[in-house]
Amino acid sequence: MDSYETHEHDVLVIGAGGAGLRAAIEASAGGVSVGLVCKSLLGKAHTVMAEGGIAAALANVDERDSWKVHFADTMRGGQYVNNWRMAELHAKEAPDRVRELEAWGAVFDRTRDGRILQRNFGGHRYPRLAHVGDRTGLEMIRTLQDHGIHQGMSVYMECTIIALLKDGDRIAGAFGYYREKGRFVLFRAKAIVLATGGVGKAFKITSNSWEYTGDGHSLAYRAGAELLDMEFVQFHPTGMVWPPSVRGILVTEGVRGEGGILTNSKGERFMYGDIPDNYKNQTAKNPEEGMRYCLGDKNCNRPAELLTRDHVARCIRREVREGRGSPHGGVFLDVSWLTHSDAFKDFKDPAWCKERITNPVEHIKKKLPSMYHQFKELGGIDITKEPMEVGPTTHYVMGGIRVDADSQMSRVPGLFACGECAAGINGANRLGGNSLSDLLVLGKRAGEYAARYAKEKSAGQIHNDQIEAAARWALSFMDQPAGDENPYKVQQDLQEIMQDLVGIVRVEAEMQKALGEIEKLKDRARRVKAVGNREYNPGWHTCMDLLNLMTVSEAIAKAAIERKESRGAQFRDDFPAKNDAEYGKKNTIISQAGDGTMQFRWEPLPEMPDYLKQVIEDQK
Ligand code: FUM
Repeated sequence: MDSYETHEHDVLVIGAGGAGLRAAIEASAGGVSVGLVCKSLLGKAHTVMAEGGIAAALANVDERDSWKVHFADTMRGGQYVNNWRMAELHAKEAPDRVRELEAWGAVFDRTRDGRILQRNFGGHRYPRLAHVGDRTGLEMIRTLQDHGIHQGMSVYMECTIIALLKDGDRIAGAFGYYREKGRFVLFRAKAIVLATGGVGKAFKITSNSWEYTGDGHSLAYRAGAELLDMEFVQFHPTGMVWPPSVRGILVTEGVRGEGGILTNSKGERFMYGDIPDNYKNQTAKNPEEGMRYCLGDKNCNRPAELLTRDHVARCIRREVREGRGSPHGGVFLDVSWLTHSDAFKDFKDPAWCKERITNPVEHIKKKLPSMYHQFKELGGIDITKEPMEVGPTTHYVMGGIRVDADSQMSRVPGLFACGECAAGINGANRLGGNSLSDLLVLGKRAGEYAARYAKEKSAGQIHNDQIEAAARWALSFMDQPAGDENPYKVQQDLQEIMQDLVGIVRVEAEMQKALGEIEKLKDRARRVKAVGNREYNPGWHTCMDLLNLMTVSEAIAKAAIERKESRGAQFRDDFPAKNDAEYGKKNTIISQAGDGTMQFRWEPLPEMPDYLKQVIEDQK
């Protein structure tokens, strides 16, 4: 057996994006020893891709907002298959978590009277997103990191976990390797919090970077936890489509929140052709009304560009498919109209939008600095003068590890999960901005309950054979004389299959085909070979990531086949309607059977208490 270093902590947090950091901070505050493992460098996390803001009903911009409206919006956005308890905790606790972040040093944009400024986002009834230009996720990570490192936690960077280790039923530790040297590391821990983010790298076009290979989902599944609602994958409507090297990079919804409009090649505001019934009374009837709303007229309804992400992404796909797309296969997103001299001519409160009127170009650069630079540097486009080209990109998975709403513990004792790799709060579709507030609220809870659990338990035993099996498996890819497959090629083929056959619009026959192809890819993944040595060898790392990618891809396809209806992010061309009678009150569950195969079942949603039903009724 290869030598390995060993560390011991009460709580081990795997993943150092916003959720992992917030959990680690809370666990440390609980007085236990905390280890924080990051697959990449500390501070590099998909959290920074939530650019446009943190959703919290602070009611700083519109006093009509409250936790009740936020709760009702989240449930409606999720098409009512959300875990209502998580949605309730999230809506109630998000304002405190945002104020706490401010107290820890986050520098938010301000209202004229000095409060945290909030902007519009899709599916949120009122301007609700506390933001820092279009760099909110980055500011959040910076703040949590600064706060966290002073709590005394140990940070293990560029470290990938490949196996969770158990003592009987309960969690006892984790085993992994350092990317730089390829050396193994063992963590003994009484409790583990998974906060590994999403699965975007299972798809060809994605806003996710290399780390997001479904590690936490797959580790938990193999350790005996259940995966909930894996069919719900969010395709963010606006990613860059050109140039090809940057395809999929996020174009924040904040662009539309700041008044950006979507048009097709005929110049039509195509979103106005198709407003879903459940949003009709809250959406502008025509582009003029939407524009007045963007200019600050509270008597108007919100523009159709700010409908939920699932709907906007499908409308964009339709325009492109029906030949009304932009030159590079997207549609146009335009904020430059805000710089036209007549944009504000009817506006009644010039003080509110003084800067917009007197210096609209600077205003855009101030509110959307990353977008300005991103398009200028990567695409040669000045967004204050010309439209962007955008199209859907795989951004987020609503499905994930099934956990208890209050404590975030999975069915494996001592194994907790929070952030994107956990499931429940978002139902069938997440509203933009709800991930940043979710990771603060439920990340804090995961850390708190993991610390409590660790305090009550003694350390579990880890048997050598578990460690040896994990190490043998990892090294098998380096020592594979019969290995005839390239790991990158296998990953690329999987991404093509998931994008083409289990993407934005799905049909049974294609998904069955995808499952067949995934079986073949699993076989190929067993024959992948890493060349070179163990030091900084991304080919070897990809060999190992493939197991996670295959697991989440199979889970997505299996769950999507079973849900024979269209709901939120899952659109079935063969079942285009929502079927509340059959599917409106249940979640899909994936787990590993004793023989290692993937099994599926339905789980009824817990009955919502009357006081929450009343909240939803009142908000209608
Ligand atoms: O568009 C965005 O800024 C993304 C936000 C989010 O995913 O919450």
